[in-house]
Amino acid sequence: MGAMIAATSQIVIANANDKSQSINSGRVKSGRAVYEQYCASCHGANAEGAPNWQERDAHGELPAPPHNAEGHTWRHSDADLYEMVNKGWRDPFNRTKQLTMPAFGGVLSPEQIRAVITYLKTFWTPEQTQFQLEESQGHSFPSEGQ
Ligand code: HEC
Repeated sequence: MGAMIAATSQIVIANANDKSQSINSGRVKSGRAVYEQYCASCHGANAEGAPNWQERDAHGELPAPPHNAEGHTWRHSDADLYEMVNKGWRDPFNRTKQLTMPAFGGVLSPEQIRAVITYLKTFWTPEQTQFQLEESQGHSFPSEGQ
């Protein structure tokens, strides 16, 4: 197990020096199609977020945030982002218990989830991409490589 973790982080470090490798272009293309079909209606066509995404709605909940450089998606590791898309997500500060971000686990395949997250990475600055790559060390996508 220790050896496996070491091997994984080696791959991540290698990718850090070669952005074109960590942001696989085939995956970006299929991720974009997934995004446009399943995510753009809430998160915006260009990942700009819902209008007034920083203001709570009538239920005291936050609308869909941007995924671009203005948002905070880049602060989460691949493992956390995968979990949010797979199982859904609700900010702990929201007032109701319902999931404000729907779960896509039953709708999208694991590869579609990895692809759509990979597509979101194209909206980040090089610094954000680097930060997120480091966050993902030891916290990569589940079942990566299958
Ligand atoms: C019905 C509207 C809706 C759809 C469709 C939707 N989302 Fe969301 N999403 C939200 C809301 C609202 C939040 C904020 C949840 C919160 O903070 O409580 C969110 C949050 C997120 C977050 C967490 C962002 C962060 O920085 O905390 C990610 C990642 C995400 N969505 C990805 C996706 C992806 C990928 C898709 C398409 C497969 C998608 N969403 C489709 C409404 C939606």
